[in-house]
Amino acid sequence: MAEIENSKLTVVGAGSVGASLAYAALIRGSARHVALYDINAAKAEAEVLDLAHGTQFTGSSTITGGADVGVIEGSNVIVITAGAKQEPGQSRLDLAGTNVRILEKLLPSLLEQAPDATYVLVTNPCDVLTVVAQKISGLPSHRVFSSGTVLDTSRLRVLLARRAGVATSSVHAYIVGEHGDTEFPLWSNASIGTVPLLDWGGGSVFAADELDDIAAEVRDAAYAVIRGKGATNYAIGLSGARIVEALLQDEHAVMPVSTVLSDYHGIDGIALSVPSIVSASGVRPIRETPFSAQEESRLRASGDALRTSLASLGY
Ligand code: 2OP
Repeated sequence: MAEIENSKLTVVGAGSVGASLAYAALIRGSARHVALYDINAAKAEAEVLDLAHGTQFTGSSTITGGADVGVIEGSNVIVITAGAKQEPGQSRLDLAGTNVRILEKLLPSLLEQAPDATYVLVTNPCDVLTVVAQKISGLPSHRVFSSGTVLDTSRLRVLLARRAGVATSSVHAYIVGEHGDTEFPLWSNASIGTVPLLDWGGGSVFAADELDDIAAEVRDAAYAVIRGKGATNYAIGLSGARIVEALLQDEHAVMPVSTVLSDYHGIDGIALSVPSIVSASGVRPIRETPFSAQEESRLRASGDALRTSLASLGY
């Protein structure tokens, strides 16, 4: 993997998620060069122009792109955002049929141009697409993964931080499982600073009902945003840029990304988010992550939901 100074990120899909991800990556300096690829030439070129016009005010990262697949050549990381988005009332799994077919067409040409890249799936349902991408590409599972519940975990930490009156960065808590309706928080090992979450404020702040409400608010957060503005884009853009940095800077950062698991708390061949180490060599799920018995059964339920979706699509 290239050092960040001469690194290249390609964002595939110039819709609101792809454009926001490229925007976040430019502002944060996540990669030295950012390319935006979309089969819609007019849209890709317009987004690239608009982004380029702002680079006086960002760091030294550059932006190019268009509808020629050659723009992705030499990429170290490829983030895929292309595909149909949720309409109000649709779940992420409702998109599986459409977006799997799009990925089946798209991925071979990406692999031809950038066989050595690490692939990050953002398109939903991202866990289903990760399994499909891994099968189509034959890449090792540490090099093809999805943004998973990195965004949901950020949503969780924002809510917990507000309730506790602390900085978001001082909250240590994870959403795991499907990036979707069966996701859940690992409450058993959540903490604020060094204080177990359940003990915060002498145990009075996070009672069982409060925790259920917070988990439901996180699970349903995307529905709320989609109801109001038709899509989510900024927070997923930032989440994606942050994952790219962890890869390109060889950070060994712990993030709940989604990879195809093998013999992980009884899960095999399904991609689910669990706390994982993200570095230049890709993703490694942390096997020692403790799960309570109830959390372990919820992880399996999440896996079952994805297995059903994959089977219905012939995977
Ligand atoms: C999100 O959670 C829709 O998956 C997207 O914002």
